[in-house]
Amino acid sequence: MCILEPRSWPKWLKRVCRSGLDASQVQSRDRAGSLCRLPAGAWPLTAHGAVKLLAPSKMKSALLSTLFAFLCLPAFLAALAIEPLAAFWPAQIWKDTSGRPINAHGGGILLRDGVYYWYGELKQGPTYLPDVNKSWGGTRVITGGVSCYSSTNLYDWKNEGLVLPPIVGDPANDLACENIIERPKVIYNARTKKFVMWLHQDSPDYAAARSGVAVSDSPTGTFKYLGSFRPNARAWPVNVTARDREPATDNYLARDFAGGQMSRDMSLFVDDDGTAYQFYASEENATLHVSQLTEDYLRPAGKYARILVGRSTEAPAVFKRNGKYYLIASGCSGWDPNTARSAMADNIFGPWTELGNPCRGPHANKTFFCQSTFVFPVAGQTNRFIAMFDCWKKWDLQNSCYVWLPVEFDRDGKPIVTWHKHWALPVGKSS
Ligand code: GAL
Repeated sequence: MCILEPRSWPKWLKRVCRSGLDASQVQSRDRAGSLCRLPAGAWPLTAHGAVKLLAPSKMKSALLSTLFAFLCLPAFLAALAIEPLAAFWPAQIWKDTSGRPINAHGGGILLRDGVYYWYGELKQGPTYLPDVNKSWGGTRVITGGVSCYSSTNLYDWKNEGLVLPPIVGDPANDLACENIIERPKVIYNARTKKFVMWLHQDSPDYAAARSGVAVSDSPTGTFKYLGSFRPNARAWPVNVTARDREPATDNYLARDFAGGQMSRDMSLFVDDDGTAYQFYASEENATLHVSQLTEDYLRPAGKYARILVGRSTEAPAVFKRNGKYYLIASGCSGWDPNTARSAMADNIFGPWTELGNPCRGPHANKTFFCQSTFVFPVAGQTNRFIAMFDCWKKWDLQNSCYVWLPVEFDRDGKPIVTWHKHWALPVGKSS
């Protein structure tokens, strides 16, 4: 709307305003000089251009809005020009404190003594497609080991270097550059005072499907690698059925009973009582297992459950809120994005109830072109969680980026992850 400065109004318009007339009662002279009545909302031509006639009450609020806009303009322009000092910018290049892009993929967070540690896969060098993985498009880079970054505010991350380096020149070694190391997670054991890392260790064709474990006295390593295994050998899950025990070609649980269950995509979760659990994609990726760890966190305790049976769930990220366990995860389509899923349970061993896709916003049905990796609570803030995702660049894995978004809950208690171009943590506590 065009509103002229009062001093540049024609006299007749000033009179109209002073008189408090309704716009429909306004009279003016047309261009030929005859007196005419203007309907409300008309745009009479004046010597100064088109002016929309407003009723006096509307005129007042229009003047106030104009004044408000002028007062706010400098702040608005400043906001456009200056990025927020501390904010998350999902899917943008995220640089560490030395100015280099953070390289910690499929990662997880550990909070210890007021410092957050971000552990992830170091992916560097050219991406290639090994012959053994051509059938399903399993591109990769030479394994770079596990990197670690530290932060006290979650925005600024200092590179702490490689905390589990790869092994060069020994292809038989689990940590060999030729092999696979993915989705490392670290937890702290208060009894042993050790930092314990679990990861997905695999052969180049992903056939080994094992869990690797490493320990360190310090969060920044170097971690000592203890070896790998297939978890829960010679143990049936707590929710085993008679059919599960029957040998059959498509019964992978029974097939792997003696040698241990396959474990690929994985995460760790420590409960309020200090008991730790590994969640891993098992049975040829068809079914997730929740597996309790020993008190030192170094081995499976032999108690586990099959969950989301036959749902081909990968990239599990587990958290707890108000006594309930939650899971955000992906489907199974390699580096290509799919629709995320969420689930909830009162008991960590199940039953788990699926809650559907938690993502909202553009490309929510493709998880914003990302895949989940971890969800963690923000220290000092009640019920505030951050969900971490990887945006894989299938043909340029080293430049895959990160999406961190807040987890909210709808009225039914379902987790919701909404896209934000950028966002920041509120200062103070939430409820
Ligand atoms: C994904 C998995 C990743 C990685 C990738 C290999 O499904 O979540 O961690 O293993 O496949 O293509």
